[in-house]
Order: sequence, then structure tokens, then C-alpha cells
Amino acid sequence: MAGKVSPHIEERRRDISPEVFKIHAHKSVDWIAEYLENMNQYPVLSRSRPGDLKARIPSSPPATSEPLEKITTDFREIILPGITHWNHPRFFGYFSITSTYPGIIGEMLCSTLNVNAMLWKTSPSATELEEVVTDWVRQMLGLPENFQGVINDTASVSSLCAIAAAREYAGLNIRENGLAGVNLPKLRIYTSEEAHSSIEKAAIVLGIGQRGVNKIPTDKGFRMDIEVLTQRVEEDIASGVKPICIIPTIGTTSTTSIDPVKEISEICTRYGIWLHVDAAYGGSAATVAEMRPLFTGWENADSIVVNPHKWLFTPLDCSILYCRRPEVLRQAFSLTPEYLRTGEADSVTNLMDYGVSLGRRFRALKLWMIIRALGTERIANTIQEHISYAKRLAKIIESTPSFELLAPVPFSTVVFRFSPKVVIDNNEEINALNEKLMETVNQTGQIFLSHTKLRGKFGIRLTVGNIKTTWDDVALAWDIIREKAKELFDTRY
Ligand SMILES: Cc1ncc(COP(=O)(O)O)c(C=O)c1O
Repeated sequence: MAGKVSPHIEERRRDISPEVFKIHAHKSVDWIAEYLENMNQYPVLSRSRPGDLKARIPSSPPATSEPLEKITTDFREIILPGITHWNHPRFFGYFSITSTYPGIIGEMLCSTLNVNAMLWKTSPSATELEEVVTDWVRQMLGLPENFQGVINDTASVSSLCAIAAAREYAGLNIRENGLAGVNLPKLRIYTSEEAHSSIEKAAIVLGIGQRGVNKIPTDKGFRMDIEVLTQRVEEDIASGVKPICIIPTIGTTSTTSIDPVKEISEICTRYGIWLHVDAAYGGSAATVAEMRPLFTGWENADSIVVNPHKWLFTPLDCSILYCRRPEVLRQAFSLTPEYLRTGEADSVTNLMDYGVSLGRRFRALKLWMIIRALGTERIANTIQEHISYAKRLAKIIESTPSFELLAPVPFSTVVFRFSPKVVIDNNEEINALNEKLMETVNQTGQIFLSHTKLRGKFGIRLTVGNIKTTWDDVALAWDIIREKAKELFDTRY
């Protein structure tokens, strides 16, 4: 018997009807394609002011069903103005990212299946596809076969899990005794002063504490200073502190500098310390054969994080943690209550054993669809083009009087500043001028840039990473930057 069909909800199903779903899903798909193909009509950076959205949304939920027409209209009229368009080809801030069409289809199918990939049994395909697709990416990156991948939501969680494995590897039995264990030494991890804040956060969560993070100074190229690192490790060992992990970065957040991973791996081998490489952003560039020399030494790591949701054209969220000692990761996290015990546990992978979360989304599906739909060659070519745009821009900046490149450009991120030194000789004043320049440029809505601070200098960052970005987009950004710099300078001086 057919249920009573109201305009937008079918009582029998307690949900909207499939007919209504199809109408709105088709309309949404049409909207998605229109949106992605016509992004120029939106300002890249949202023009919302604090409270704009809250003022337009009821503070209590509706007691009865509302029609999807109204909800989708509100999405366009109320939600969209408060969106900063990360998928815009001229989003050049932070690390620019892409949600590609196959990735969007993957996300739709993932929420349709709505599987929880906690155990092999709870969806064999979800577990096995994750094993296969992380191995595909491993091959694309040129990593050795003994790295096993597991997908987490973010690099923050991947690094947290890696450092927990390192702590386990140190053999202090903290898993059982906790940090109140008998005669525990102080624990120490080492990373550079340019490392991402997620490393320090992991130290806070894991009880190592902020003081347990030894931030090693960097050289002129913002790379970890090996001599200081060696000295600090040796001093710590001599004073009874236990080094558990060294974390170099390939592609630091501010400048994309590359720590000397090979030399660091030798220190790790010498002292039996876990090596975790943060390649959350830079890792994707290893798909380009010519870039591989920059990664020398990462094959010696115990664990590596690479984020497909940064530069492998995968919608948020998707971070792969590769581990050369998966048994240690498992030892750190495996805990099986009776209700999760399964008969085949010895012959399959149960992904819940390799991280904090029990429930896990079927993230491998979108990654599998993207790699198949784009192909590894196109992915590598696009990344190579992004790098070439950044290097071309860097050359232009270097040869432009009044502009200054603040860091080398190994990947697709350029850090620079407007520096009319002949007239302004005060660093604070130059910093203020550049902050104003970035804000003015972002207010045009045509491009979006972000910033960093390097040894007291305010640096504007332009990073290329969206699949649709062309050289014309970068050239337009440079025109806008120069034009606004000139306007600012002329009005002030
Ligand atoms: C080098 C590096 N590591 C880690 C992260 C944290 O990434 P996530 O947002 O996936 O936690 C970032 C973020 O930009 C990063 O640049």
C-alpha cells in the first residue's frame, strides 16, 4: 500500500520520497556543474561579516517538514554568501585544493552506501579498496612496497597516530601504565621551528607536552639544522631524556621548505628513534618523476603522512598515513571489545586497529574514482604544471624592483613581499604595508592570498594547487598585486 504522500515527505518512509529525491538530486547536480564552471561570478573570499548568517537562520529547528525547494533556495541565498570558494581556480591561499567531479561522485556514493569501514566484515569492499587504493598512491609516489597505508580524516590525526606508534616503539609500556608509569623518563620529540602546529598538538594530546617538543632552528632555506638536531638528541640521551620521534617536513606550511630527510634518517637509525615524515602537502609532488630527488631519504621513514585532500584533487577529507611498521601502529591502537570480535580477524585487516576512531567513512571510494577517472599521468602532469607556474612567477618577482622573494620555491608556493626599500627602510612599516596589500587584493574578490611571517618579515603566500588553475590565473593575480601595490604606495608616500 502506498504511503500518504505529502508534497515533500512520505509518511511511510519517514523521509522524502525517491521521486522528490530524484528531482532535487538532479537539480543539485545541475547546480554543482554550473557552480564549478562559472565560479568567476563569486568573490573568492566571502564578504560576510560576523553574525550575517546567524541573523538569517532561525535559532530553533523546525518541528515539521519543510520543502526542499525552500531549503535549496536558502542554501543559495543564505549559505552561499558566507562561503569562501576554496574550489575557485584563483584561490591561492593556505594550500589550494580541489574537489574534482569524480571525487564529488565518490562522495555522493559514499554517503549513499553509508558504510562504516571499522571491520573488514562491516564492508569488505571498503577495507579492501582502502588497502588497494593506498597502495596505488604508494606506487604513484615511488615509495617502497613495505609501506602500508591507512586513511584518516586529516594529517593532524595521521601524525597523532604516528607519534603514538613511535611512543609504543620506544618500549616504555605507556599503553598499559599511562604516563604515570613507574620510573618513566621524560619523552622528547624533535621537529623544526617551521613544522606544522599539528605536531605540537599531537604532543599535547599524547602527554608529551609542549615542552616535550624540541623545535630545532632552521638554516637560511628554512630547513632543519642537522648539527643542532644531533647535539640536542645527544644532550637529551646523556641527561636521561628519551627521544621517541624525529619529524622532518617535506613541504613546510609557510615556505614549503624541505628538511634534510636523508641525514635525519641516519640520526634516527643511529639512536633507534622513530622517523615520521610530514609530507601532507609536498608528498603529492612525488608523483612527478623529476621531483623525486627532493624526497631522498623518505623511503627510510617509519611513517609518512600525505594528504590527497591537499594536492591530489580529492575532496576533503582524506589523509593517508603510510607506515613501514604497521604492526607497531596496530600494537598502539588495537583494542577489541567482545561485540567487535569476528571469526576472520587473523586473515584480514580490521582498519579500526590502526587509529583512534572506531567508525570510519569509506574515503577510499572517492580516491579510487579520481585516480581512475583522471589517470596517474594527468595527475602528475597537472602537479608539474602547477610547479612550473610557481617557478615562473618567482622569476618574475625576482626581476621586479620593489618586490622581494622571501624563500626558495621547490614546489608550487611563492612567498614574497612588496619592499620599496629605497623609500621605506623600516621593517615594521614594510610589514604593515604588505598586510594592507594582501587585504586590499583579497577585497577585490578576484583572487585570494594568505600570509606568513618569516624571521620578522610579513610574507604574502601564493600557492597553486587547484586543478583548473592556468598560467592566466596566476598572471592575473600578479597584475592585481602589482596594481594594488602601486595604488597603496602612491596614496601613502
Ligand atoms: C605540512 C602540513 N602538515 C600538516 C597539516 C595539517 O593538515 P590537516 O588539516 O589535514 O590536519 C598542514 C596543513 O596545512 C600542513 O601544511
